[in-house]
Amino acid sequence: MERMTPLLEFCPDEKNIERLSSVGQLKERVQSVQHFATLCHQISHDEKASQDVFIELMDPKSTKKTPKYTLFIVDRPCKSNQKFAAFVVPQGRETDWLFGSNEGRRQLADNAKFQRLLVIHLGRDHQFASLDCVQTELAGIVSSLQPQGLPPNTQIPFLSLGAQVNQRKEIHRGVSDSTGEYVVEEVEEEDDGKPVILRRLIFFSNPNVIQSEARMKNGKVDLKYLACQHHLVMVEELRQNLDMTNHGLKSILVLGLGGGALCTYLHQAYPQFKVDGVEIDPTMVDLARKYFGFKPSENLRPHIADGLSFVQDAAASESRERYGCIMLDVDCKDRSLGISCPPPSFLEPNFIQSVKQCLNPQGIFFMNLVCRDEARRNGVTEMLRESFASVQIKKIKGEASGGRKSSKK
Ligand SMILES: C[S@@+](CC[C@H](N)C(=O)[O-])C[C@H]1O[C@@H](n2cnc3c(N)ncnc32)[C@H](O)[C@@H]1O
Repeated sequence: MERMTPLLEFCPDEKNIERLSSVGQLKERVQSVQHFATLCHQISHDEKASQDVFIELMDPKSTKKTPKYTLFIVDRPCKSNQKFAAFVVPQGRETDWLFGSNEGRRQLADNAKFQRLLVIHLGRDHQFASLDCVQTELAGIVSSLQPQGLPPNTQIPFLSLGAQVNQRKEIHRGVSDSTGEYVVEEVEEEDDGKPVILRRLIFFSNPNVIQSEARMKNGKVDLKYLACQHHLVMVEELRQNLDMTNHGLKSILVLGLGGGALCTYLHQAYPQFKVDGVEIDPTMVDLARKYFGFKPSENLRPHIADGLSFVQDAAASESRERYGCIMLDVDCKDRSLGISCPPPSFLEPNFIQSVKQCLNPQGIFFMNLVCRDEARRNGVTEMLRESFASVQIKKIKGEASGGRKSSKK
């Protein structure tokens, strides 16, 4: 009727009716349902079509623009009597290698022995009361993703690590020019059966990778605790090296300060050494001070600079500092390269030569290398072998699909 506003209603299933405010919104909803139906059809008819597929589900009732759920479909090539299950990753654990990488999720499906496993990540911008609520909300969608041949109304098991979905506490969120959007958040995990609070810095450009992590003790950062595996390996190697050969070590350079966990730890463990932390993004230095217990002092100095030019300038300078140890822990923002750490410019022979020039004769260089491409990893090892007398490689199981390397001069 003239001047009457049309009523637009959309029924996503038999139980729900949603009222929409515009035809555009209605079209969008219909298209997404069609898209989803096509995808379900493809993956139930062609096993190859489901390889590394993930589906992001938005909450139409929420004002948030980020997915509420991300569903990763993992199909195992071998046949199994257990056909299908969904696995809900507790909040905060999506950064674990087992849940955050394709290889990890395949291993999870192998361990669980289901032919198809849906691995479900819970969006950090949304609230989840319990595992039961997640199961109720997702039941319809999950059953549309079951493999062909399963009778309709089959009871689909929802698995998780416990009865909780865990809670994530956002401490601070912001945006910076070089990093983009980031968050500092706390999650509760178990360590030796005891609950521990871990405070993390996460970049949204790579949300399944923790940039910096600290353990909280009575509401404060525990400065004596290193949470990242590759930091632990670096520090342990350094300790052994100090005992054995590197007696002249007086200063350490850390490229990539982030939340400053490594620098802070080194400073409290070796207060007599000078620790220089180089960070490209000034916001990170502020975050390190505010949220990660980083306290600059005479022997703990932050430098806001590009690590690449910092090292090259230092190498070219007549009065250059000779460090006893250099640790490279810089992330790569370009996800298309298959390398999360460091950016390719830090893997060029001329940069490695500059690193060498900044080290004292017994100096030790650590590189955190996170790279999927095996050929490239081997290329980096070769290049390091050409530059240094001794090179050691330590693979860290459980860190985002990569090994890491340490190389000794
Ligand atoms: C993995 S985090 C470092 C974590 C840190 N080592 C710690 O102990 O917590 C990587 C950091 O490298 C910084 N970064 C990225 N590119 C850089 C560059 N070219 N020079 C210096 N820092 C850089 C990022 O801003 C980020 O804070």
